[in-house]
Amino acid sequence: MDPVRNPYAPGAGQRPPELAGRDRELQQFEIVLERVARGRPERSMVLTGLRGVGKTVLLNTFKSMAMQRLWGTGKIEARPDQSIRRPVAAALHMAIRELAPRHRAPERIEEFLGVLKAFAMRDPAAAKGTSHWSPGIDVPAARGRADSGDLEIDLTELFVDAAGVATDLGVGIALFIDEMQDVQAPDVSALCAACHELSQNGGPLIVVGAGLPHLPSVLSASKSYSERLFRYARIDRLDRDAADLALIAPAAREDVEFTADALDALYEAADGYPYFVQAYGKVAWDLAPRSPITAEDIKVSAPEAEEELAVGFFGSRYERATPAERDYMHAMAQLGDDPVPTAEVAEALGRKPSSLSPARDSLIKKGLIYSAERGVIGFTVPHFGRFLRAQPL
Ligand SMILES: Nc1ncnc2c1ncn2[C@@H]1O[C@H](COP(=O)(O)OP(=O)(O)OP(=O)(O)O)[C@@H](O)[C@H]1O
Ligand SMILES: [Mg+2]
Repeated sequence: MDPVRNPYAPGAGQRPPELAGRDRELQQFEIVLERVARGRPERSMVLTGLRGVGKTVLLNTFKSMAMQRLWGTGKIEARPDQSIRRPVAAALHMAIRELAPRHRAPERIEEFLGVLKAFAMRDPAAAKGTSHWSPGIDVPAARGRADSGDLEIDLTELFVDAAGVATDLGVGIALFIDEMQDVQAPDVSALCAACHELSQNGGPLIVVGAGLPHLPSVLSASKSYSERLFRYARIDRLDRDAADLALIAPAAREDVEFTADALDALYEAADGYPYFVQAYGKVAWDLAPRSPITAEDIKVSAPEAEEELAVGFFGSRYERATPAERDYMHAMAQLGDDPVPTAEVAEALGRKPSSLSPARDSLIKKGLIYSAERGVIGFTVPHFGRFLRAQPL
């Protein structure tokens, strides 16, 4: 059928034509926004899940919800090799720019921007002259606030001041952090401390995160009270009804239908994983001659969808691993699809567990495997074991 009208959208952070199966999370976030705006105590939300389940898409939807309530919003994507200081400064700059036109006292905004600039300029990289932040803030940097160089103190002061500006307008500020498991350990600790402080004085600023399944353990390793700061929402594969809806609703808007056994075959192939639902749906649409899309169309199109996934979704990640890391992952794959004890991987490879820690740690850093529980590891990518088992060694 006409590829131009193809509604499906496989891709990182690509907004799906229908956000299926996430009503509970959306409702919860509505409540968070409402309570925080009213100064009620509320835990913020952190989304966790495997690759391609729709964390980024949901985070972006949360951001739109906050913007609709006229909140100031900003978003960062954490990187393992980067302090969050400058990205957070840039994100809060965006948030304040959204609020500024509605604020009656321009000097309040200027005052905050001065603090923000001072905060950003304390970046260690900037001090060494190795990087330059040009935020386009005309006001001079303030002194004596958010500029101590201690990220915990500085973040707390910055957040409190930002929340103050939002309070003037009766709204809030939401800071979104994607790939939050990659925030460096000292920064995680500073971030939790700043959120903790804020939650105690009821300031309307929340940090909303998304990351891999081990994110809760990253947060609690840094601050034991992190569980009381965040409500963890595990984002998972779609159940049958949601997966069907994700396919049927966008097609219906183009007057296209699926037969019942086509939907059976698609659920079988995509296993409810949102990325796969989009990928199989897209190819099936292109190759089907007409509506309704049938089981036969799915059978014909599946190999092409699998090929695209093998290259784009699995292959691009496999490429990032060194030969030693690949051996490690192949050994994991032979042990099955669920998370496995590291000791068993070592045994399968006939090696001492300690000699494998470098490969394991580096795979975790690359985001290919995760360890949510001591001594146990799993693939962050759904169906990755299956992909590896089909791969020649
Ligand atoms: N609720 C949903 N219904 C239908 N499709 C969805 C849904 N959520 C996400 N998708 C689709 O799934 C794909 C992956 O989404 P997204 O990039 O948000 O996943 P992610 O969890 O952030 O992955 P990663 O861990 O790799 O960053 C996109 O193509 C998106 O359109
Ligand atoms: Mg993502």
